[in-house]
Amino acid sequence: MERTLVLVKPDGVQRGMVGEIISRLERRGIKLVALKMMLVDQALAHRHYGEHEGKPFFQGLVDFITSSPLVAMIWEADDVVEIVRGTMGQTNPKNAAPGTIRGDLGVNIGRNLVHGSDSPESAQREVALFFKEGEILDYNRNN
Ligand code: CMP
Repeated sequence: MERTLVLVKPDGVQRGMVGEIISRLERRGIKLVALKMMLVDQALAHRHYGEHEGKPFFQGLVDFITSSPLVAMIWEADDVVEIVRGTMGQTNPKNAAPGTIRGDLGVNIGRNLVHGSDSPESAQREVALFFKEGEILDYNRNN
C-alpha cells in the first residue's frame, strides 16, 4: 500500500484551511494514517526541501516553512501520490484547475497551502523525515 506525505503549510494553518483540506482529501476515499501539528526547524526544512537548494526561492521557502506551525499528515491508498497530487492541483495556483485545493484556495506559488510528495520514492523519504514508524496507525476505513 502506497503512502504519501501531505503538509498543510503555515499559510493554510493561518487562513483556517486545515479542516477544508483534510475534508477534500477524506472525500477522495484515501486513508489518513498519521497527523500532527508541528513547528519545522531549519534542519528539517533543509532536508525536506534539499532538492531546491541553490534555487533563488530556496531561502524564502525555508524561512516561510519554519515561520509558523504546519500540519503534517500521511495518507495511504493504492496510487495515493497521484490521487493527492490531482486533488492539490498544479504547484502554481494560477495554473491549478478549478476544483483543486490550490485552484480554488491558493494565492501564489509561495503561498500554495499544501505540499504533497511528488513521487512514491520521494514519499518514502519524506514520510521518514516527518514521522517515526510508531506514529503511523493502522485501522479499517469504511468508504
Ligand atoms: P511545495 O509542493 O511545497 O514544494 C516546493 C515549494 O517551493 C512549492 O510547493 C512552492 O511553494 C515553492 N516554489 C516552487 N517554485 C517557486 C518559485 N518559483 N517561487 C517561489 N516559490 C516556489
